[in-house]
Parts: sequence; C-alpha cells; structure tokens
Amino acid sequence: MAGLVSAIHDFDMVENVDVQHKAGQDDGENMNGKRILLIVGGGIAAYKSHELVRRLKERGASVRAIVTKGGAEFVTPLSLSVLTEEKALTELFDLKDEAEIGHIRLSREADLIVVAPATADLLAKMAHGLADDLATAVLLATDKRVLVAPAMNVRMWEHPATQRNLATLRADGIRFVGPDEGEMACGEFGLGRMAEPATILEAIAGLLGAEEARPAAKATPLRALSGLPLRGRHMLITSGPTQEPIDPVRYIANRSSGKQGHALARAAKALGADVTLVSGPVTLPDPQGVRVVKVDTAHEMLAAVQAALPADIAICAAAVADWRASDEAPHKLKKLHQGTETTLALTLNPDILATISKPGPSRPRLVIGFAAETENLIENARAKRLRKGADWIVANDVWPGTGAMGGDQTQIHLVTGDGVEDWPPMSKDEMAARLLARAADAFAALRPAAE
Ligand code: CTP
Repeated sequence: MAGLVSAIHDFDMVENVDVQHKAGQDDGENMNGKRILLIVGGGIAAYKSHELVRRLKERGASVRAIVTKGGAEFVTPLSLSVLTEEKALTELFDLKDEAEIGHIRLSREADLIVVAPATADLLAKMAHGLADDLATAVLLATDKRVLVAPAMNVRMWEHPATQRNLATLRADGIRFVGPDEGEMACGEFGLGRMAEPATILEAIAGLLGAEEARPAAKATPLRALSGLPLRGRHMLITSGPTQEPIDPVRYIANRSSGKQGHALARAAKALGADVTLVSGPVTLPDPQGVRVVKVDTAHEMLAAVQAALPADIAICAAAVADWRASDEAPHKLKKLHQGTETTLALTLNPDILATISKPGPSRPRLVIGFAAETENLIENARAKRLRKGADWIVANDVWPGTGAMGGDQTQIHLVTGDGVEDWPPMSKDEMAARLLARAADAFAALRPAAE
C-alpha cells in the first residue's frame, strides 16, 4: 500500500513540474480574456478561493464561481460574487438561474474549470459521474479541461478508495495540482493540504498556455497538451481465450472471459488511442469505437497481431492456449472401448507476447504482458518478463479462490524493470484505467523514436 501511494504521488509531482515549467514561459502570464469557472468545494481551504480569484482577476481573467453546499459553509456566495463581479451560483435547481444560464452554458463559456478545494467526496462523485448538484452537473456535462486542487485529511487522501478515484480521474484526463504536505486544520500532519493559490495560479497559467500552444502539437509532449494523452497513438491489445480444435466439435480452451482485455481496450480508447483489439471467443460486446479482430486459435491471433503492427503500445492480456492438438481430426473422434486410454498429442503454440517483444523496427515501444499464476507469483512474473522480453508484466493470482479468472475484481502486482508495485484489489475497469494512465505517462517520457 505504501508503495502504491508513493507511486501515485510521484506521478502527481511529475505532472506538477510539467505544468509549472510551462507556466514559467510567458505564454501563460497574461490571462486577458480567459474565462475561469471556479468550483469551490467544502473544506477549510475554501477560504483560499478569495485570494485565487483576486490573483486571477489581476492577470486579466474573468471568473465565475460555483459554491457547493459544503463550500458555502466556509465562504459565502456573496463574498465570491463581490470578488468575481458575477453572481456566484449554488444550486442546480435554482430555476431562474437554470433558465438564464444553464449548466451546459456555464461549461461552454469557460476556457478552464478549476475545482479548488476538491474534497474526497467531490472527487468520488466526479469519478463515478454523479451529478446531484450544480457543481457536479457542470463537471459531468463539460468537455473543457478541468484542473483539480484536492484538499482533505491525510488518511482520506491515502485511502485506497480515494486513490482509485484519482486514478480514474487521471485516466479521464483530469489534471491535478497538489495536495501539499503540512500541518492540517485537523491537527494531523501529512499530504492533503490544498496547494497554495500561487501554485494553483501557475498550474492554471500552464494549462491555458498549453491550450494556446495546441497547434504546435509536434513540439510539445502529448500529455501537456490535452486530456487525451494517447491521441494519435496506436494501441494493440489481445483479449480472451483461444480455442484450439481437436476435431470439428471439440476444442482446448481456458476460463478466460476477456473482461480484463476488453476493459483495457475501453480505457485506451477513453485516453484517445486508436485501438485494435484482437479477441478470442468471448461473450462480451465489442467496445465502442475500437477496431475488433475476432479470432479462434493462437495461430490466428498471432497472424492478426502481426497484421495490426506497427503499434506504439501493445498489451497482451489474452489467455492464449499453450498447446494445440498436433493433428486436428477432420471428423468427430469416436470413443474407444471402456478401459482403453486415449492419448492426445499436443504441440506448443507460438508465443505472441515473446514474438512481438523481439527487438526490431516493428517492436511496439512499450510492451506489456500478463502473468496468470497460481503459485510463486512474483518470482514467476519476473522470470516471465525477462524470458519474453516484455517491458512490464502485470502479475495476477488466478488461484480459483481469488475469483480473478472470469470475475470482475482483480488484484495485481506491476513488475517493471525498476521493481514490483503491489496494487490493492480493485475492479478490472479501475485496474485498466489506472494501467493505461500509467502507460500513457511512461510512453510520454520515452525519447522520441528515431524515424
Ligand atoms: N502469451 C502469448 N502467447 C502465448 C502464451 C502466452 O502471447 N502462446 C502471453 C499472454 O497473453 C500473457 C503472457 O504471455 O501476456 C503470459 O501468459 P501466461 O499464460 O501467464 O504464461 P505462459 O506463457 O503460458 O507461461 P507458463 O505456462 O509458464 O505460465
């Protein structure tokens, strides 16, 4: 768990440095004409919103504020109205404002939405797409960039539920500033203090600057540009089992449902990737907006994968059958007499992960494999990473008692060249969102390929 929290926090820091670096350039200093929609959540840090508004206005930005019910316990909508020179809004069902302004219009008119402070509760609502007040309805309706400044008690920040929500939001393209470490209003010490207004201001300037730099896409790292860090990237994902025919009516297969591979394809699509999903026989619907190539056998899967190359990132999540019948019978095999043993000769299937991991011009720059194990999980996964030449291995325990095979939950260990991270149990969708956010980040950090 400690490893997990620090890993996530490192990621934060990388993003902050990125944003601050952009802010250091003069493209974000002047905010003339920029419209910020500021959502003030509940929490003692809400008092800092006054200073943030003041500083934004000094730079020429216009600010409209939405105050959540909790936020209104700490700052009054009236004070924010005075400072912003626009009526601060509170409730979704204030019919007059809904008629005049509307939550869709509020989002449409903004260049950037800033949530400061964002409580653990508000983050959870955002991650789950709840929209039961004006602030969350705007956040769900918007296609604008959203910057979030979390503020909460250190234990709430470190709780796996909050960390899962953060991973989901990151995968959705939400950007974060802070939190800082320090003494809290509750008397505890640790991570969770809202970033200072000056830091939030720099992050805003960085994002507005990056927005303006959009046409120069080639020169700027993708993740600094948009909430779709895999836009323009081709992702190749294998999923599901394979079926290896014995005769026209029988086959060798395994219990894989394809849930994890399909969740990865959806998560990759959500991050803007162009996705090819090569899937063995599953009963799942095809993920929307994804190119799906359906295959039965390991040989067909290998051929489909090779035909789909080149790819920037490949994830082999399929549970490929290791063996196939050495001779597929053209007719249904007949039973022998009772008491007579039947022997089935098996031949090893090609290893798709090992094949695409081989160094060469068509090797995807990031190759991720899975290791489904029932014993010596980490040791086997480490050995598998080296043996197959993958960059990362997602190790999961598929011992029948875990319910991972075919179920909706998973618990994985991420084995990279730097070590092993233990992730808490989570749904396969959450794992996918989190792994893809991680892969996008790692991909952005790779040096450009020599082309
Ligand atoms: N894999 C593959 N082609 C195969 C077998 C496995 O691409 N013929 C990939 C899987 O998609 C997964 C990784 O290799 O990403 C490991 O799969 P796993 O079933 O755990 O390992 P095996 O290769 O079967 O090794 P072992 O039997 O020793 O566990």
